[in-house]
Amino acid sequence: MRQPIIIGNWKMNLSRQESKTLCSEIAKHNPSPTIEIGVCPPSIHIHTVQSTLSESAINWGAQNCYSESHGAYTGEISVNMLTDYGCKYVILGHSERRTLFKETNQDINAKLRLCLDHDLVPILCVGESLKERENNEEKIVILTQLRECLHSISADSFMLRQCIIAYEPIWAIGTGQVATPKQAQDMHHYIRTQLAALLSQNHAQRTQIIYGGSVSPDNSKDLLSQPDIDGALIGGASLKASSFNQIIHTCESMLAVTQS
Ligand code: PGA
Repeated sequence: MRQPIIIGNWKMNLSRQESKTLCSEIAKHNPSPTIEIGVCPPSIHIHTVQSTLSESAINWGAQNCYSESHGAYTGEISVNMLTDYGCKYVILGHSERRTLFKETNQDINAKLRLCLDHDLVPILCVGESLKERENNEEKIVILTQLRECLHSISADSFMLRQCIIAYEPIWAIGTGQVATPKQAQDMHHYIRTQLAALLSQNHAQRTQIIYGGSVSPDNSKDLLSQPDIDGALIGGASLKASSFNQIIHTCESMLAVTQS
């Protein structure tokens, strides 16, 4: 069985003190160890988050990294720097990075390979625009993103280390217009089928595929109850302990029911 995973993507929000307070409040909830929990703060707050969460079971990660391990790349952050600060994850290929900062699938592929080599868990984001969905092109868009981002990554290196896939339809991010559970399940199932073809059936069954895009305490139960949705990548609702903890609690209650 795949472990459920709930990750907060804080984007470019919160002060140092707010980050500290939010982490303390999430840790106070004392999430069940059956669920993997993580937060991805802005890089400048990673040290603060590490100091606050180091005694807890909650993991942390970054929202981006660079595709070279060191050198003259002003303004960039390397995978070694992230692991030095205890990061477990790094979000790669978020649609905001693809659209605002013109990241390509090839850039993301280079970063992903470096992460796998350095034991950083990539959270690879894929997702289609509204126009692409309206033109019924969403599956081909996702397939191209998967193929190109995972290009020449051996099944073994994927298998040895964890790699999380996040399906985040662009039209659902920060809009309040969440994908329906059926739309999300259909795409998650499609992604799993494609992973089986690209890597192997075993990889596909083991990979956690999480949904992102306007996840809230109100819609999390219906999304998380879908068979191919293994968790959530949460933006807006991860900035308040009350909503983030409520989503974790929903996940815990669902797991308790399936295990009883
Ligand atoms: P949202 O963001 O939950 O605010 O829609 C999700 C994301 O961008 O990862």
